[in-house]
Amino acid sequence: MNQPFPSPVTIPLNQILPQEPLLLMGAGPVPIPAAVAQANGVVINHLGDTMNQVIAGLKQMARYAFQTGNEVVMGVAGPASAAMEMGVTNLLWPGRKALVLENGTFSARMGSMAEAVGAEVDRLKFPEPSMIDIEQVKAALAKKQYDVVTLVQGETSCGIHNANLPEIVALCKAHGALVVVDAVVTLTTMPLWMDQWKIDVCISGGQKGISSIPGVSLIAFSKEAWEVIEGRSGSMPHWCLDARKAYRFWGFQQYHYTAPVPGILALYEALRLICEETLQKRFERHKKSSEALQAGIEAMGLELFVPKEYRLNSVVAISIPKGVDGYQIRKLMATKFNVEIAGAFGLDILRIGQMGEQCRSHNVFKTLYAMGMSFKQAGFAVNLAAGMAALEEGLGADIYNYVP
Ligand SMILES: Cc1ncc(COP(=O)(O)O)c(C=O)c1O
Repeated sequence: MNQPFPSPVTIPLNQILPQEPLLLMGAGPVPIPAAVAQANGVVINHLGDTMNQVIAGLKQMARYAFQTGNEVVMGVAGPASAAMEMGVTNLLWPGRKALVLENGTFSARMGSMAEAVGAEVDRLKFPEPSMIDIEQVKAALAKKQYDVVTLVQGETSCGIHNANLPEIVALCKAHGALVVVDAVVTLTTMPLWMDQWKIDVCISGGQKGISSIPGVSLIAFSKEAWEVIEGRSGSMPHWCLDARKAYRFWGFQQYHYTAPVPGILALYEALRLICEETLQKRFERHKKSSEALQAGIEAMGLELFVPKEYRLNSVVAISIPKGVDGYQIRKLMATKFNVEIAGAFGLDILRIGQMGEQCRSHNVFKTLYAMGMSFKQAGFAVNLAAGMAALEEGLGADIYNYVP
C-alpha cells in the first residue's frame, strides 16, 4: 500500500494573527463593519428563493451605487481585476481596436488584458503623477476609429484623480467608442454617475470604498455594451469570466458555477449600509475626512505627491523626504502603533487610504499620530502637534464614528 504523505505540523490561525489586528489604512483592503463580517460567516445555497431575494436586492443597491438604471449589473467572483478582465475581454477580440489611457499601474493593467485577447491596442501614456491630457486623447481619436477606450477614475498606484473623466467619456462616445471605466477605488467615495456620463462598463472591487471583503466585485454594462456582447460570435477565451454565462446566474438565477455565497452576502450588507447612509452623505464624509488628513500631513511638514487639481481623495500619496526610508516608517507604524499604510509600486511615496470605514475620525487620528511619531522615531523632525491640530480643525464638529 502507498504511504500517504505525513500530516504537516499545523498552527491555529489565532496564533498567526496579531493580538489586535492591524488597522488597515493602506490602499485596500479596508476595515469592514460588523454587519459585513457577520454576513461573511454565513453559507446558504447559492440557488433558490433565499439567494434570489439577495441577488435582486444586491443588484438594486449596486445600481444605486453606480447611479445607473441599466439592467445588466452583476457581481463577479474574483478580485476587481477579474471584473476588469470581464469588462475588457468581453468587448475585445482579434480585429477590435482599443485605446488605453494610462497614468499608472491599474490603467496599464487593462491594456495588458486587451492585448491578451488579441485586440489591437494603442496606449496613451501620461507620466505619473499627471492627469489624462484630453488634447492628446482628441488627437488619438482623430487618427483612428477605436471600438473601446479604457481608463480609471482614480489611479490608486499614485493617487491621481482623472477629474476630467466626464469630458473624456463624452469625447470617446462622440467618436463611437465604448468606454470602460475602472471605479475600483472611487465607487461610493466620490461622485460617479454612470448613466449621466454615459459610461458603458463600470467596474468596482468589494474591498475599497464599499468596505466589504476582497474577492467579490461588481460590474455594470450599458445597453449598448451588452448588445455588443450578446451579438458576439466565436468562442470566448474565458469560461468563468464569460459575461453571458455569468448573467445566467445574475440575471436568471441559473447555475453557472457555485457562487461565492459568503462574499455575496457580505457585499449585500456593505451596499445596504451605503444605501442607508446615502451617497451624498458618504461623499461628504470622504471629502471632509480626506481633506482634513491632507491638511494634517502638510501641517506636519510633509509634502503631498499630487497637485490639488487632480489629487485623489480616496488614496492620499505622500512624498517620502530625502534620507527617509519609507519601509522603516511603515514598519514602525505597524509594530509600534498597529496601523498599516501602503508603500507604492516603484514610486517614493507612502499611501494612506480614505475609503469607507477608513474615513472614521478615530481611525484618521490614530493614523496621523502613528505616522508623525514614526517619522520622529526614524529621526526625521515633523511638527506632530501642528499636524494633529490641522486634522482636528479640518474635521470640525463632524466626528465620524463607527457605524456597526
Ligand atoms: C484602481 C484599481 N483598479 C484595479 C485594482 C485591482 O483590484 P484587485 O487587487 O482586487 O484585483 C485596484 C487594486 O488596488 C485598484 O486600485
